[in-house]
Amino acid sequence: PTPVLLDCDPGHDDAVAILLALGSPSLRLLGITTCFGNCAVEDATRNAQRVLALAGREDVPVAVGAAGPMRGEVALGNYVHGVSGLDGPALPEPTVAPVHETATELLARCLIDSPEPVTVVVTGPMTNLGVLLSEEPGLTEHIREVIFMGGSTERGNHTPTAEFNTFADPEALDVVLSTGVPVRMVGLNLTHQALATPAVVERMSAMPHLVGRTCAEWMGFFGDSYERIWEFEAPPVHDPCTIAPLLDPDVIRWRDCFVAVELDGTWTRGTTVVDLFGRLPDRTPNAAVAMELDAERYWDLILTALDRLGSP
Ligand code: BDR
Ligand code: CA
Repeated sequence: PTPVLLDCDPGHDDAVAILLALGSPSLRLLGITTCFGNCAVEDATRNAQRVLALAGREDVPVAVGAAGPMRGEVALGNYVHGVSGLDGPALPEPTVAPVHETATELLARCLIDSPEPVTVVVTGPMTNLGVLLSEEPGLTEHIREVIFMGGSTERGNHTPTAEFNTFADPEALDVVLSTGVPVRMVGLNLTHQALATPAVVERMSAMPHLVGRTCAEWMGFFGDSYERIWEFEAPPVHDPCTIAPLLDPDVIRWRDCFVAVELDGTWTRGTTVVDLFGRLPDRTPNAAVAMELDAERYWDLILTALDRLGSP
């Protein structure tokens, strides 16, 4: 199986990403590290642990990460995910504590100990990885690729132009891009194709187990937020779009592009700049950018994984 580290801020869609990784035998989840983002880092940590408890997989180590960004103010997404960061159905309480290592310590140790390079998936602000690689740039040798949810080739969501994760810590993304490590970016232009339609939610709630029904209820809460704030008819389930291409290379179509992130704009801090048409001739592509999702395959991957977890 492909060794994977997941750095996240659960979050309803992060929670589904965790379940997709756990329910996919071709991946081996080495650990989960948490970050501020959808909620304070303490809540993100507890939410990650509650999701592991729901899946019966508390053997996966969880390490507490950054409480705020490399520079600037803390931005939180509770206005989307509720006070706990994962509001909605009741969840089992964790029975295992987080590990004593910090997120960067756990990431570094797992990277060094792995016999093969590790895929690092980031579905929250990039802080933990940005801090780690600015301190220990040599660790990129142990990383197969970084695949992250953030940014967009188009508009934003947290601000008119900036997506939440890249807004929350643009300096950290800038560090990661500047290391030259292979990067795949999954932005809003892609994840807005990953809608949990009523038909998808119905398939979840019809599952004869708590894992499926819990996801259906999460989609209800998340969907209400998306309708209220952004007038979406169904919620875009962003974060599992980083895991799905590790399972099926054809689920997303990519384009190699130069990507940068705005650090200083008056209105545009945290906005990703994606050179789709090679308008910056002295810049070469530094990332594969997700362009098109096969939504049917995507939901099949997720529902299959949920069923594996729910009916072992
Ligand atoms: C991203 O921000 C969070 O609300 C989601 O979990 C996702 O990672 C979408 O902009
Ligand atoms: Ca997230």
